[in-house]
Amino acid sequence: MIVGSTKEDLSLEKRVSLTPETAKNIIDLGLKICIEKDYAKHIGINDREFESHGVEIKNTGSEVLNSCNLLMKVNCPSDDEIKNLKEKMILIGMLNPSKNQKKIQQLLSKKIDVFTLELLPRITRAQSMDVLSSQSNLAGYRSVVDSIFEFEKAVPMMMTAAGTVPAAKVLVIGAGVAGLQAIATAKRLGAIVSATDVRAASKEQVESLGGKFLTVDKAEDMETSGGYAKEASEDYKKKQTQMMQEALKKNDIVICTALIPGKAAPRILSEELVKLMKPGSIIYDLAVEQGGNSAYSEIGKINIINGIKVIGVKSLMNRLPLTASSLYAKNLFSFIRNLYSREKKNFNINLEDEIINKTLIKKEIS
Ligand code: NAI
Repeated sequence: MIVGSTKEDLSLEKRVSLTPETAKNIIDLGLKICIEKDYAKHIGINDREFESHGVEIKNTGSEVLNSCNLLMKVNCPSDDEIKNLKEKMILIGMLNPSKNQKKIQQLLSKKIDVFTLELLPRITRAQSMDVLSSQSNLAGYRSVVDSIFEFEKAVPMMMTAAGTVPAAKVLVIGAGVAGLQAIATAKRLGAIVSATDVRAASKEQVESLGGKFLTVDKAEDMETSGGYAKEASEDYKKKQTQMMQEALKKNDIVICTALIPGKAAPRILSEELVKLMKPGSIIYDLAVEQGGNSAYSEIGKINIINGIKVIGVKSLMNRLPLTASSLYAKNLFSFIRNLYSREKKNFNINLEDEIINKTLIKKEIS
């Protein structure tokens, strides 16, 4: 059985789905691997590093597609790649099925088994494959680093002979995977950190990282039985706005990460709320690709309103492609290890396995 991977569209995506480390691990399972020439050259990984582990280098992407039984990608393959894919093979990636419906239908009509890792169940056994967590964790870290880069003051408190520099105050909205890493990163850099979330359970997690939890006064808990957030009620939104009015005046940097699975991002910061911040403040909206938590946030732009920078970065993972690739590739390796049967020397699509069942796209998607 041969596992293959081709280059992504480098104008959009710098991550790769195979690293020399995971290539070795996949070969150790008893599988062969082939990749396209200069596969990861753009992030400083030479073909020789892959070859030293036994990976075969092909001159073109089509040669890879012709040879492999399983194709690993970061994003959905291009139209040309889909045309060249053989029938009945396996494709694994973060395929964004709701945005790529047409391509997915084409793949399914070729009887390709299409696995998309955003659909992984959040169960213990799937943790090592959890691409959303591995990438969100990095997004939380990078959002703080980027915000501090744009912030025109120092962050930690410094006592110097020339006077004392006060510590910057960072507010994190949404204490999920990205939010908790944002809190940890801002704390490490010396900021005074507070955070808020609709899930009462997140209070303990925020406090364990040294952050102050801002509770919405007399609000109900918005956690579902699955551990995710549900949409806030009108009453909650009103009380959250009141709480934000005070918090925004005091904070220098706001990191927005609020997300409700399968829905547009909740709009938490209205135009009026944004304008309460001091000139020189930063709002970094990680939820911008889902519509944004903040007014004025736009994908790929820094909008300046009354001296407040509202940042909406496009393709954030392209700012740390090596680390993001390393974690993504490890997630993929864990998924392949679960899919491959060493005894049968074949990929075993066992629909009784919740991981396989939930990630396999089986029918038309809407
Ligand atoms: P998550 O689901 O782990 O966390 C979201 C948190 O927001 C949850 O704790 C939830 O309870 C909270 N929340 C929901 N509604 C809220 C409200 N009204 N007020 C306060 N909190 C609320 O999500 P994760 O993985 O941390 O992702 C956060 C955001 O970062 C998402 O929008 C995601 O798409 C984005 N992201 C962006 C990346 C990029 O490359 N641009 C990469 C990874 C994540």
